[in-house]
Amino acid sequence: LARGGIPTDLAGRHVVVSAGGTREAIDPVRFIGNRSSGLQGYALARTALARGARVTLVAANVALPDPAGAEIVRAGSALELRDAVLKASADADAVVMAAAVADFRPAGYRDVKIKKTDDDEPAPITLVKNPDVLIELVAARRPGQVIVGFAAETNDVLRHGREKLARKGCDLLVVNEVGERLTFGAPDNAAVILSADGTSVDVPRGSKEDLADVVWDQVTGRLQ
Ligand code: CTP
Ligand code: CA
Repeated sequence: LARGGIPTDLAGRHVVVSAGGTREAIDPVRFIGNRSSGLQGYALARTALARGARVTLVAANVALPDPAGAEIVRAGSALELRDAVLKASADADAVVMAAAVADFRPAGYRDVKIKKTDDDEPAPITLVKNPDVLIELVAARRPGQVIVGFAAETNDVLRHGREKLARKGCDLLVVNEVGERLTFGAPDNAAVILSADGTSVDVPRGSKEDLADVVWDQVTGRLQ
């Protein structure tokens, strides 16, 4: 089924995409964050909409125009993102975790700004582990639901990717190499999409939209 050359293979499907990067508050003015821009997640949302899906976009600290037609749910921290993603995924056909979720958060939130003083050494910031949303999604998955993770690696990309796919238990893992000038905030991306069935698809450097369409190709092939 094609309309104007665009496949409508996600018509009647509900997909959830998380995008951006979480911020873990230290005090009212400071946080621990990461370099995710949200561009890849937003490209996934736009391409899914173009292919006919109903899209819930869980956006963490993203400064990008909202894709028309998506339901946008804002999340700040990893705990907020987890609540939003698990809630939206209850009736979803596919979930793509493109967001960079902080692994740790400060153990205690100070509700007044931490002040510097002349003589004191700064107090260390103790961190505690955040829940792994992807692992929770896999544990809660409904029959037939396709779950996709993303992994940004800096070295030994494929080995780390295979290990991560096995550890997370998701269907697909989109692995890309990151570095100072690679991927973060850039319009283009290159990746390998690893599948739990042992196959993989190489996606050559191209736009984040192109990569998003290959991800949806892989997802639709696995939907019942
Ligand atoms: N993820 C998640 N919840 C977390 C951390 C990560 O859902 N608390 C998801 C990310 O959205 C991504 C996938 O898991 O889709 C892989 O994230 P990544 O940070 O690469 O994996 P980690 O298991 O945190 O491993 P690492 O030690 O390499 O950071
Ligand atoms: Ca991590």
